[in-house]
Order: sequence, then structure tokens, then C-alpha cells
Amino acid sequence: MEYRISNELAKAREYEKEQEALIKEEDRPVYHFTPRTGWLNDPNGLSYYDGKYHLFYQYHPYDSHWGPMHWGHAVSKDMIRWKYLPCALAPDTEYDGSGCFSGSALVMDDGSHLLMYTGCGDSSADPTGKGRWIQSQNIAIKSPGSDEYIKYGKNPVIKEKDLPEGGDAYEFRDPYLWRAEDGTFRVLVANGRTDEETGTQLTMYRSDDGFNWGSGKVLFEDERRIGVMWECPNFFPLGDKHVLIASPMDMQAEEEEAVGSIRFPQGNNVCYITGKYDKKSEDFTPDSDDADTGYYIYEPVDGGLDFYAPQVMKTPDGRRVMIGWMQDPMMGNLHDVKDFRIFGQMTVPRELSMKNGRLHQWPVSEIEEYRTDKDIYSGVAFGNDWIRIPSICGRAIDLTLDIKAESTCEELGIRFAADKEHHVELRFDVARSVLTIDRSNSGQPDNITKKRSLKVRDRNGKLSLRLLIDRYSAEIFINDGEQTMSVTYYTDPSAQDVYFKANGPAYMDIEKYDLQK
Ligand code: FRU
Repeated sequence: MEYRISNELAKAREYEKEQEALIKEEDRPVYHFTPRTGWLNDPNGLSYYDGKYHLFYQYHPYDSHWGPMHWGHAVSKDMIRWKYLPCALAPDTEYDGSGCFSGSALVMDDGSHLLMYTGCGDSSADPTGKGRWIQSQNIAIKSPGSDEYIKYGKNPVIKEKDLPEGGDAYEFRDPYLWRAEDGTFRVLVANGRTDEETGTQLTMYRSDDGFNWGSGKVLFEDERRIGVMWECPNFFPLGDKHVLIASPMDMQAEEEEAVGSIRFPQGNNVCYITGKYDKKSEDFTPDSDDADTGYYIYEPVDGGLDFYAPQVMKTPDGRRVMIGWMQDPMMGNLHDVKDFRIFGQMTVPRELSMKNGRLHQWPVSEIEEYRTDKDIYSGVAFGNDWIRIPSICGRAIDLTLDIKAESTCEELGIRFAADKEHHVELRFDVARSVLTIDRSNSGQPDNITKKRSLKVRDRNGKLSLRLLIDRYSAEIFINDGEQTMSVTYYTDPSAQDVYFKANGPAYMDIEKYDLQK
């Protein structure tokens, strides 16, 4: 029987094509991924399939705000230059008619591409009366030679009856797939609990064929009570550890008052946990900081203002590469974006590594192919007044600063995306070793969070920064990627300057490239 796409999918495809033609290249970032049209949130289905990288994304084509979720789709040879493909999934069945939520992808042995995603169905039966949608895990599969991701006839494949005890069927989402060493399938699904106000369990299911899933086992429980629900789990080996990355919602702020830094701001955050995974028993034992309680250690993945719901994939050459949604989810819908037909960006793909027990992130080397116009300066002295350096400017640049502040220098600053009235500022409090990102003067609306301060490792006044500055964002890689800060801004792209200042002796080596696509 010939396959016919649904009216909802046909409508989305027609609409995105029509709208894309109206969006000018200058309205998009130079090298950060944006939706074909409308709104984007989480990266989904990251995978290498059929000779290309595939990036799907949470997508509301009809508006620059969140709405009924579709899956957008793009492919790339190098993870930097993406080509849009037609919208892959639309909310068009009983089990996903309220939204096709996040999920992941696997390549099957017969050459097909399998997507597993969360379907949001009916809301009328929510026992809390909050109108939440029942959530289940579903499959869409593309056969070799076909272009369509066809929803599996036996969906949902994991549903309410498969929940472990206490699991909430209305907070049950974001399946993360992988294959075990023996080729069998695993998926980790985020799940809230019905019995308590807060608390999350991450449940792992097993399958021999990827379609038939057995009963779940709780791989991880949040006994520390961090946030209310952990979204978008990722679980993978890295170096000599196993890493769990997830996005807890509604966290309480965690501040280090002594140094004035914010470990986690109030709201939704992304954290990582390292530990050991026993392949036989399939138990995960998180690294702990407390012998009595056995409580796990959790660290922020990004110390900036805009980073959420990242997904990690394995590349054919064995790298673990992460892409995040570069937006504070609490702020996304507050932006006044009426001048933009698109809203939402992804981070550049970041290669992950484990050094001294800490997660490190670095832009994939493929981005270096887009560098042009190299400029190098060494031993440049900062001034007491803001100074500019010829040719160190731009809104699509890859800028490395190796800084050394003498002990009498208390603070230094860098401003970028600057003109006479606007700038984004990075301030380094040398004595406390605290780095602050501040976009108060970038022209953002008042209701947007403006600042975050992050304690960085004390290296005796030395600070190494790699700034990937784009038209509407910057990603900052600190001390070889030991920490990162992501920030968006919507300053007019004509604000191109970079300024430096220090209130005492400080010097830097500069390496700068333009990035062109
Ligand atoms: C995270 C998230 C996911 C969900 C999706 C819906 O940002 O809330 O948990 O699947 O977005 O768009």
C-alpha cells in the first residue's frame, strides 16, 4: 500500500518552504543552527546515518514561540553547514496529537533509521486536574531508499503500563537510545513520580530488536531532590567514567556567597554526574561526595545564560559530540521576537572529553575549516581605559585570548558585540577567580536574566578563553574547555567592536580568525 503523509505534515512542509524563502541570510546567525522557520528547542535524533550527520529538532514552524511540537530535520557532512530537509514528524495521531516531544535516533542493522520520541496524547484524564498530556514512547522508522519517517503501526512501544512503581505517566519523556556491546537495545527515559512533590527517576528499558521493549529498571533516582523533573537524559561512557547528563527543571539557585558566584541559577539547568556502570548488573553507581549518605556529585554543564536540553551522539570516528539548545528555557517565550520569523539556536557541536574527573568541552575540529584571515598578537598590554586593537573585531569570529594578570591587577574586562551604546561584557575578578558574563548593555528586554558569575579554577591570574562570537550569540570555552558559558543577545549586527581593559598590569596573546560559511 502506498504511504500517504498526513494533512498536518503536508501543511507544515508547505508552510516551512514558503516561509524559508522570506528569511534573509542576514537574519540568521553565521554558523549557529536555527530552525528552518518559526521556533526551535531541543536537539533530537542526533546521529550519523547514510553518510551524513542528522539533526532533528523540537520545532513549531507556525510561530516564533513554543507550540504543538513537530520534528524539524537537517543533514550535514561536517556538523557545521546544515541543509534543511522537510519536516520529519507532525503531531497527527491519537498518541502524539498534542506534540511529538524529544527523542533520539539509532541506525539499524538493515540500514533503516529509527527514531524514538515522546508522544503527547490526551490531557482530559490527568488526575491532578492540571491538564497535562499523557506521555508515551513511540517509534518512527525510515527504510533504506525511502525519505519518510513512518510512524510504527504498534505505537506506543513504551507506555503507562510499563512504568516502574510510582512513575507518573504525565511526566514520562525524552527517550535516549543506545546499543549495548552485544547489539541489544537500551533506552533511558525521564520520569517524574506521582507520590511526592519532587523527585525524578530515570528508567532504562531493554529490547532485542528495538521495537519490543521489556519492563523498565530504574537506573538512577534523584535522592538529592534537585529540581522537580529531570528532562532529556543522556548516558554514555567517556574516558574511564560513565556520564549522565540531564536537565532538571525548576531548581533552587545554588550560590557560593563567599566568592559571589552562581553554581546553578534559579530555574532549569543542565547537570552532569559521573560514575561507574557495571555492564553485567547494569547498575550505575554515581561518584559520591558523602560517605554517609552516598549522595551523588552533580556539576553544571554550562555556566552561561543560555543552555538547555543538550543531546550527545557518537560519531563514526568515536568522538562523543554534544549539541545544546542555546536558550534559557524560562526566557525563550519572553523575548519579543516579532521582527524575527525564526527564534532559537543550537550551540556549535562540542566534543566531550574527561580530564581529571571533569567533563571538558571543545568545539569540534570541523569548525576550523571555516576560519579565514588569521591575526596574531603577543604580549598585548591591557589599558586602564577601554582599548581596541586593529582588526580584532567582528560578529562571526573565533577569538582565543591567553591572559596573564599580575597580582596587582584586581579586575579585567572584555567587551564584544560593541558599539558606542551596546556591548556584552566579560569581567574577570582576578583575586576571587570569578568570571562574570553580563549582557545588561546588549539591548535585551528588561525581563531577561542579564548576568551570571562563575568560579573558575584558580590559575594564578592566568585565564585562557576561546570565544566563538556569532551574530546573536557567543560560546565561551574557559581554560581548555574545563568550563563553558553560552549567551545569546540580539544587538544589531553592526556592533562589531571588541574592547579590553584592566585596572592593573595584565597581558594577553591573541589569536583571531573570521568564521565564514
Ligand atoms: C525540554 C523539553 C522536553 C520535551 C520538549 C518539548 O526542553 O521540555 O522535556 O520533550 O522540551 O518541546
